[in-house]
Amino acid sequence: TANNAAPTPPMGWNSWNHFGAKVTADDVRHAADELVASGMAAAGYRYVIIDDGWQGSRDANGVLHPNAKFPDMKALADYVHGKGLKFGIYSSPGEHTCGGFTGSYGHEAQDAKTFAGWGVDYLKYDLCSFRTRLKGKSLADQTAMMQAAYRKMHEALEATGRPVVYALCSYGWGRVWEWGAEVGANLWRSTIDIEPGYQSMMFNAQAQQGLERWAGPGHWNDPDMLEIGNQGMDNPDMERTHMSLWALLAAPLIAGNDLAAMSGDTRSVLTNPEVLAVDQDSRGAQGRRVWQEGPVQLWAKPLADGTLAVGLVNTLDHPLDATLDFKALGLAGAVPARDLWQRRDLGLIDATHTFDVPAFGVVLLKMGKSATH
Ligand code: DGJ
Repeated sequence: TANNAAPTPPMGWNSWNHFGAKVTADDVRHAADELVASGMAAAGYRYVIIDDGWQGSRDANGVLHPNAKFPDMKALADYVHGKGLKFGIYSSPGEHTCGGFTGSYGHEAQDAKTFAGWGVDYLKYDLCSFRTRLKGKSLADQTAMMQAAYRKMHEALEATGRPVVYALCSYGWGRVWEWGAEVGANLWRSTIDIEPGYQSMMFNAQAQQGLERWAGPGHWNDPDMLEIGNQGMDNPDMERTHMSLWALLAAPLIAGNDLAAMSGDTRSVLTNPEVLAVDQDSRGAQGRRVWQEGPVQLWAKPLADGTLAVGLVNTLDHPLDATLDFKALGLAGAVPARDLWQRRDLGLIDATHTFDVPAFGVVLLKMGKSATH
C-alpha cells in the first residue's frame, strides 16, 4: 500500500449498523460529540464514517452533491475535524450503491477530488451494483475487473495528494484478501454483512481462519464493523467475546452503535485499554483459533513484546469450567498470566488452572514473561 494511513487497524465509528440509510448530518455530528464525551476518542476511536445514504445527484458538470439530509458536507467535515477526529465517507465503484444511491462509476477522479475538497480521511468503497457487471464472466475476469475498479479509485485518491484510508467492501468476493494490498487498500471486508447477534458475529470471526498471512501493518482483513451495543448483541458477555475476537484478529474496530444511548457496560467493553492494546499491537499479527473441543475454542495472537494474547471462548448458553491447552499455545510449565477484562494479574498458571467461562463468554489473557504488571 502506498499510504501510511493504517499502521495499526483503523478505529472509529460508522453510521450503518445503527442508522442505516436514514443517517442525517445531525446524527453524524452527535456521534462525533459522543465519541469525545464518552472517552472513546481518547481510547483511540478516531474516524467518524458516513456510510450509505448521504448521496444526492450529479450536477450538469458531473459533480456529485449530497442529498437534503447533508446540507453542507464541508461544514460537517470541519466540525468533525474540529473535535480532533477524522472524517470518513462511502461510495461504490458501481453506478449505484447497495442502497440505490449514486455511485462513482465513470466519475472516480471527479469524486476523489470532491471528497478531498471536503476533507475526507477515509473512504469505504462498496462493490454493490458493480457486481452486475461481473455476471457471465469467468472467475479470473471477474477478479481482474474488480481489481481494476478498486485500483482506479486508489489512483484517483492518490492523485488528490490527501492521505485517505482506503477500505474495500466486497463481502470477501474475489478472494479480495489476496490482492487488496496490491490495489492500494488498507483494509478489505472478508465476509458477508455482520448482524447484531452472537451467531453472525462468531461466523464472521471464524471465517478469518486461514487469512492470517494477508494481514499486517498497513493492510488488514476486515470481518466487518462492531455490533457491540446494538440490540441482539447487548449482553456484556457476548460483547466481550465480540471485542476479544476482533482484538485477537487485529481487525479494524469500527463501532456501529448509537453512542448517545450507550450503556456503561457497552462503553467499558469498547474502551478497555488492555484489550484495545491487543488489537493495536505494533506487530500487527492476525491471531487464529489454535484449538477447539466441542463448544470451547482457544484463540491466540503473538504480540510485539513476545507475549501471547489468548482467548478462551465458550460458545454454549451456560457457563463452563475449562483449562488451557498449553501445547496448542506453544507454552509449557508455569507461565505468568494477566486477565485483560478483569485487569488483574493471575500470577503463574499452568495447564491445570481452571477458568470459569460465562455463557457465550470469554476469558482474555496475556501470557508470557512480561505479561504481568
Ligand atoms: C453493504 C455493506 O456490506 C454494508 O456494510 C453497508 O455498507 C451497506 N452495503 C450499505 O448499503
